[in-house]
Amino acid sequence: MQYTFAQYQESADFIRAKIGSFAPKVAMVLGSGLGFLGDEVEDPICVSYRDIPHFKASTAPGHKGRLVFGTLRGRNVAVMQGRMHHYEGYSYEEVGYAVRVLRLLGCDTLVVTNAAGGVNLDFQAGDLMLITDHIKIFMESPLRGENLPAFGPRFPDASHLYTPALQEVARTAARDLGIPLREGVYMYFPGPQYETPAEVRFARVAGADAVGMSTAPEVIVAGHCGMQVLGFTLVSNLAAGILDQPLSEQEVLDAAEACKDKFSRLVLACLER
Ligand code: 6GU
Repeated sequence: MQYTFAQYQESADFIRAKIGSFAPKVAMVLGSGLGFLGDEVEDPICVSYRDIPHFKASTAPGHKGRLVFGTLRGRNVAVMQGRMHHYEGYSYEEVGYAVRVLRLLGCDTLVVTNAAGGVNLDFQAGDLMLITDHIKIFMESPLRGENLPAFGPRFPDASHLYTPALQEVARTAARDLGIPLREGVYMYFPGPQYETPAEVRFARVAGADAVGMSTAPEVIVAGHCGMQVLGFTLVSNLAAGILDQPLSEQEVLDAAEACKDKFSRLVLACLER
């Protein structure tokens, strides 16, 4: 299936009718454990995904499935509480759909967060990582199919998908707050199974520092339509084969819960700046 520009506009028009003159600037996709930030939005206007024409629901655990419009640290934001994942059965086009709608509503920046497995042997569970680049070479692109030039070019440059100036904002904010911040490359795997130890070794020699099942599709779509991007990973656990222990979803959720304070302080400080 391929969405038309008119469908993106219908979704945007529906939301505009709900938010009136409010003009969101920063779109935020909150991954495991950070969804609660959506509840801290001031003067919130919530719109459920299921009510928006052409939107898909989000079925992953801990994902609420709604957009929250309002202000956070004085910024006009549109928070996605819950994202769509390819492993839920959605196409990459569907996974990136909301980003384009938020672009039509006026967002020029995307902040993405996720929980992922550490691949870099210097990393520990609980580390925060600034995403400097990603690798997504498996499966198709969210931009596959007829290009919609109203959003961007057929062959978009991907030299600086993660905006260097925003990375610098994050480094400075982390330093000022005294929050240790790793940096590295996020490698996308479609999941839902975690990687095998051999796949994790492959990711490491490929140059990855963390592996996860989200983020890259949305960032590709955001870069295509000219948005600036800031991305953070919570290293919730080490990837398979590093420690001799099985990975579990509970471990990811527990790590997210344990780190939500420092993670949210960093993200909010970046918004403020
Ligand atoms: Cl080890 N792999 C992937 N793909 N996603 C994760 C993860 C690992 N840990 C948390 N999320």
